[in-house]
Amino acid sequence: MTVAAASPAGLDDDVASPLGRELVALIEAHGPIDVATFMALALGHPTHGYYSSRAALGAGGDFVTAPEASQLFGELIGAALATAWQQAGGAPARLVELGPGNGTLLADLWRATAGVKGFHAALDVHLVETSPLLRRRQAERLGAVPGLAWHAALDEVPADRPLLVVANEFLDALPIRQLIRLEDGWHEIQLGLDARGRLAFAPDPRPSPLALRLPAAPIGSVLELSPAREAAVAGIAHRLADQGGLALVVDYGERDPAPGSTLQAVSRHRRVDPLTRPGEVDLTSRVHFAPLINVAGAAGPTVFGPVPQGLFLQRLGIDLRLGHLLAGASAAAATGLRLGHARLTEPAAMGELFQVLTIDGWGNGPPAGFVAAEANAPVRARP
Ligand SMILES: C[S@@+](CC[C@H](N)C(=O)[O-])C[C@H]1O[C@@H](n2cnc3c(N)ncnc32)[C@H](O)[C@@H]1O
Repeated sequence: MTVAAASPAGLDDDVASPLGRELVALIEAHGPIDVATFMALALGHPTHGYYSSRAALGAGGDFVTAPEASQLFGELIGAALATAWQQAGGAPARLVELGPGNGTLLADLWRATAGVKGFHAALDVHLVETSPLLRRRQAERLGAVPGLAWHAALDEVPADRPLLVVANEFLDALPIRQLIRLEDGWHEIQLGLDARGRLAFAPDPRPSPLALRLPAAPIGSVLELSPAREAAVAGIAHRLADQGGLALVVDYGERDPAPGSTLQAVSRHRRVDPLTRPGEVDLTSRVHFAPLINVAGAAGPTVFGPVPQGLFLQRLGIDLRLGHLLAGASAAAATGLRLGHARLTEPAAMGELFQVLTIDGWGNGPPAGFVAAEANAPVRARP
């Protein structure tokens, strides 16, 4: 997503939502919570969480993801997955999307791969989605895809066939923990109440036992860890190691980010303070790819990348595809197609901010969009 600069939370913004008031009551009763618990509740609270109650993806909503920016994205993801499936021999497989949002990526992927001989007939399609609101939107959007099945987690997808997995802006919505280096070591950052009883982040006064896992860093440094993201990627990689298949993971972030808080809240295409109206604004953070490469590689598959989204889409032929679409387009549609292409590929838009990682359980050489030198060195699992 691309957004404008942050504005600070206004007076009492933290309690200007039902979830904000619940958080204040929870903290008054039980004490501060960690950032991961705050993020999980702000996004996934069953009634007041952002994805349960609002989930405004798209130009008229809070933020635009790659498939919402242009049909070219889902079409080329479809081409990459269909190519991998053909190279593996074209046997029956399960297509899985993690966090499908409005269903736009899958709709574009499905339409674009209709001409790939035997592909649709070989696939069962599974959506991993926790939000009932978005499940309803996906069902409406994906009427053309037969036999869709919804699950709350990847574990529920039957483990009997190779998997083709796509996860776009899924990991950035999974919770992170934050730690700050103080004079006596690393301390967990928590959400508590300030002297006026308002929600506020502050370090836990006790040093964290996680310190054992953390590098030396100057006082004041903030580090982010995400056991939830690591568990999700390890889960994908184990399934690919056991059953074969390929996963495309796309998100904003980098292999090794500089220290610092990257928790980001967005409302109506503007960055806002992360404590603004909890549950009514989107919350994400940049994805740190290095630990994900390690957990995926330790499960057995080869991990390629991450490579910048713009480069990945260029290698898949986005310019050619744009040319085909422009040939039959009206002037207005052509402008939209060009804008979408620029948004997906230009370095100042999504082209470099977003990265693509492939986890390859088939081992048929570099997957479409990657070159051999982008394979990460094998990771030896701990004994
Ligand atoms: C930022 S949206 C991305 C939507 C879509 N992939 C796109 O690119 O437009 C995040 C998606 O992940 C879903 N989600 C968030 N946490 C989840 C979880 N723990 N399990 C399954 N889905 C989750 C949200 O409901 C939403 O569909």
